[in-house]
Amino acid sequence: MANTRYPHQVKIAVIGAGPVGVTTAVCFASLGHKVICVDYDHEKISSLAKGKTPFYEPNLAKLVKLNCQAERLKFSNNINEAVKDSLVIFIAVGTPTQSNGEPDLTYIKNAIKAIGSAMTDYKLIVEKSTVPVMTCDWIKSTLNRYLPKNIKFDIAYNPEFLREGCAVRDFLNPDRIVLGVETEKAKRLLLKIYQPIKAPKLITDIRSAELIKHSANAFLATKISFINAIANICELTGADIEKVALGLGFDKRIGPYFLKAGIGFGGFCLPKDLKAFIHQAKKIGYNFRMLQEVERINITQREQFVKKIAGQLKLKGKQIGILGLSFKPNTDDVRSAPSIDIIKRLKSAGAKIKAYDPKAMVQAKKIMPDIQYCENPYEVAQESDCLVILTEWKIFQKLDLRKIKRLLKKPIIFDGRNIFAPEKMRRLGFIYQSIGRL
Ligand code: UGA
Repeated sequence: MANTRYPHQVKIAVIGAGPVGVTTAVCFASLGHKVICVDYDHEKISSLAKGKTPFYEPNLAKLVKLNCQAERLKFSNNINEAVKDSLVIFIAVGTPTQSNGEPDLTYIKNAIKAIGSAMTDYKLIVEKSTVPVMTCDWIKSTLNRYLPKNIKFDIAYNPEFLREGCAVRDFLNPDRIVLGVETEKAKRLLLKIYQPIKAPKLITDIRSAELIKHSANAFLATKISFINAIANICELTGADIEKVALGLGFDKRIGPYFLKAGIGFGGFCLPKDLKAFIHQAKKIGYNFRMLQEVERINITQREQFVKKIAGQLKLKGKQIGILGLSFKPNTDDVRSAPSIDIIKRLKSAGAKIKAYDPKAMVQAKKIMPDIQYCENPYEVAQESDCLVILTEWKIFQKLDLRKIKRLLKKPIIFDGRNIFAPEKMRRLGFIYQSIGRL
């Protein structure tokens, strides 16, 4: 029977309780759908059922609680039941990269097997995890192998464009919704699900939708490496990257976003998707040299930053204070964060590391157990030979810089995210080096 309060309500299962899966489940429930989010991880599911998210994402825990109380959202380990109770199944499991750049699709394969063995009637299966172009063809043929011929299904690809740290906002106020479909029925169902969201809805074939996602992340990565390359030219010429970026961004064809120079991009998505895209392009006969260069510039950016520090002070035996470990602010995620690479390089040159991050220290300790973690930025500065800023958390911009100067052994700051104005820092008596600015 149709729900009178939410006439567009659809029964949805979301497979995978990672950041994308949970955000998708929670936001669909907030739109009025009936959602079951499933994962094999018992610990994750039981903490979500209690309203606790296993990762930090602003506003998410609050919405989990609200939607569970309203009985529109449920967390479960029982994939069988979730599939049977739903009409539309979203796959939102991880697709990590293997060392050769090929994405590991094991989790997707496991999800398809489980869906196939639970299905007794029509389902629309929507792939949401980021995958190389033509993966949905493989999903379709794999599912066909597990299903009796009389059970019908449709496949669709609906990429996510969620940024960690503002995933809920991005989901509910997207720039666009891309729906890669093969049938009218799949299109109708997906439009019904997304009906409450006001945004351009682009209907495409599945392969184009898959390509849109990889191209979007590759383009964002390209913008960042481009501006970092220009920052290097700024350093060689005495120009100022902030002004150059401003001047570029006013051109509507270029736009002001993703032109922030720094120590390069990190996180679970951009580096992984870039690698996977380069790999997939090669596999299908195109050598994507441009993206290889984007990747190379990104790594070089970190190396150069360490060289900049080593050029100012001999690293052996020095105490380096690090501010910021997460790959960007408003997240506790340190996966492929520039901080890991930079700290590793500083340590292998003989430096001792003290660090602070407002959210990411628990995650960082798992990867870097052998550095000293501090309670606050001032403890980091205490007796350190210099301070190094690796993430542009807002609280770092409000530091009492006079106090920092008193605490440091030498008043030296290397700013990998350009959070301070160079003239102000020099006026305060710091030796201050940032990216693309003199
Ligand atoms: C990225 C995309 O922005 C999302 O659209 C996409 O949905 C997501 O990947 C995904 O595929 O799931 P995210 O990884 O959360 O989102 O992070 P971004 O905000 O894109 O930042 C990535 C990295 O680029 C960060 O390390 C950030 O510090 C760096 N960055 C970003 C710059 O160095 N300069 C900039 O101007 C912007």
